[in-house]
Amino acid sequence: MAKARKNRVICVANQKGGVAKTTTAAYLGAAFARLNKYVLMVDSDPQSNLTYSMELDEAAQEKAIENNLATIYESGQDADSCTLRVRDNLSLIPASADLVMTELTLDSSPNAISSEPERILRNSLAPLRSRYDYTIIDCPPSQGMLTLNALVAADFLIIPSLASVISLTGLERMIEQLHEIVHGDMALNADLKLLGVLLTRFRRDRNAELEIEAKLRSAPEEFFVFKTVIPDRSQFGLLGELKAQTGRHLTELSMVSYSLLPYLTLAMEIEKILTPTKFPAANKQ
Ligand SMILES: Nc1ncnc2c1ncn2[C@@H]1O[C@H](COP(=O)(O)OP(=O)(O)O)[C@@H](O)[C@H]1O
Ligand SMILES: [Mg+2]
Repeated sequence: MAKARKNRVICVANQKGGVAKTTTAAYLGAAFARLNKYVLMVDSDPQSNLTYSMELDEAAQEKAIENNLATIYESGQDADSCTLRVRDNLSLIPASADLVMTELTLDSSPNAISSEPERILRNSLAPLRSRYDYTIIDCPPSQGMLTLNALVAADFLIIPSLASVISLTGLERMIEQLHEIVHGDMALNADLKLLGVLLTRFRRDRNAELEIEAKLRSAPEEFFVFKTVIPDRSQFGLLGELKAQTGRHLTELSMVSYSLLPYLTLAMEIEKILTPTKFPAANKQ
């Protein structure tokens, strides 16, 4: 019998752009894969940056044109047939620019594809998720239906944020949206939990950033901030062209490389946080 997988779905979201959502989804996925976990990445941003970051071969790129997250939303295609194998234990449901239309046309009213438009992603991932330890969903920089679907599909939320005053407002709005999804009238996903706020592009040589970090860490528990902080490092700028520029695919980086190492630390912190005693398995469907 196949080994039981951890079956955890994590959504990486923040309506602000440029806070390292995609970088976090890509590197955290690669880090879990390096720790021998089975990982499914879902690119839910029409910009398709996560898909590009996987530097797919030509055959996979062609398949992604016909079979991607937009075809799941638009024609009810099953998620399995949209899943590309990047490495043995790392797979991807790619995005497509067609998701722009999905975001514009999908609203909360029942349609031909689904009577529950907020649950399309959750329902389509349901038959797949138990095959993976971690499903990681990368969200667009908006609070529209794509992000809502990701939050409804997920068990856990990671909010990447810069340690800047402007970013804190984005963080607050994200926490509000989380609250609405868990406790709102529609209780769209009562099981969704904030896994943590992740400080990214962090510079210890800037007092202002250290002050914001200290302020966040002293906030109430709903603002839990990961102990792991992702430093500001130019290597992250190579995402999407790592193989082309350095000859090494994201999944082939050294365990001690400046970019992979902080995300390996984060992956291990998450494994520790998610011990069964702290988060007993919820009813998964
Ligand atoms: N830790 C980091 N250090 C330096 N640059 C980073 C880091 N993380 C991400 N970046 C850069 O910041 C920009 C935005 O990151 P991205 O992951 O695309 O953000 P988002 O998905 O939130 O819009 C990209 O150019 C990326 O290379
Ligand atoms: Mg992005």
